[in-house]
Amino acid sequence: MRSLISITDLSVEEIQSLIDTANQIIADPDRFAHVCDRKKLATLFFEPSTRTRLSFEAAMYELGGNVIGFSSANSSSAAKGESVADTAKTVSCYADIIAMRHPKEGAPLVAAMNASIPVINAGDGGHNHPTQTLADLLTLYREKGRLNDLTVGFCGDLKFGRTVHSLIAALARYTGIKVVLISPKELQLPSYVKKDVLQKHGIPYTQTTNLEGALPQLDALYMTRVQRERFFNEEDYLRLKDSYILDPEKMRNAREDMIVMHPLPRVNEISVAIDSDPRACYFKQVLNGKYMRMALIMMLLEVKA
Ligand code: CP
Repeated sequence: MRSLISITDLSVEEIQSLIDTANQIIADPDRFAHVCDRKKLATLFFEPSTRTRLSFEAAMYELGGNVIGFSSANSSSAAKGESVADTAKTVSCYADIIAMRHPKEGAPLVAAMNASIPVINAGDGGHNHPTQTLADLLTLYREKGRLNDLTVGFCGDLKFGRTVHSLIAALARYTGIKVVLISPKELQLPSYVKKDVLQKHGIPYTQTTNLEGALPQLDALYMTRVQRERFFNEEDYLRLKDSYILDPEKMRNAREDMIVMHPLPRVNEISVAIDSDPRACYFKQVLNGKYMRMALIMMLLEVKA
């Protein structure tokens, strides 16, 4: 039995296999419509979500399975003080697989250590978000045709942005990857990610505060929201929240084939005027997330079409 806690729990070959399965689902969804008949997914969300929870639920329904779960800590017995370990043991009695989001880093790992069914990390604090990374990788693969030889710019809140940490960890294992880190000084990528991921894998990277200056060299720009919920004080959030706003004027500096990605939700960092630009791929990421979660559920439940 396997769980997915970090994107590096999957080898590059396994990620390619998930991409291949997702592409097969996109081409012929009917072939997969009953592979999870009588199986149940439990969505345990201790923190708000729109895309991740609903795409997991849609994924399981489209595979023929069913869904149980809760969408906030307050509607579960966590509000009475129940531990993550006991919650995982309990839900193992009712479901075949768990998707868990939690504000505390490491909570899905604790769940996986106590559950008797696979656990998928659906986002833990400022740490990791491996299934968003799967959505991001499918988007890069479908839009750019490759996962090697890419220069990717990450812009915004690189300190608390768990999707950034996971995607950098994934890309670091491909060849010819270059990374441009664009953020205010206060929201720079944590040094442990620079040291343990970028430097360890010999990935060339630069750091800058200048978005316009970085744009011309990028194959993909990964914008992120400033994560209000992870700030210790509102004053700092208000000062930093509008550090970067991508608009049509700035996009004139970007290449014609540069794609714009964002894990969403968007607050103010991408002007809605960009939505009609053919380079905008963030709603494609949303849809790709459902297909990759379908492929992942199949892999962890060891079912085939
Ligand atoms: N990208 C993402 O995790 O979105 P949600 O918070 O809406 O799930």
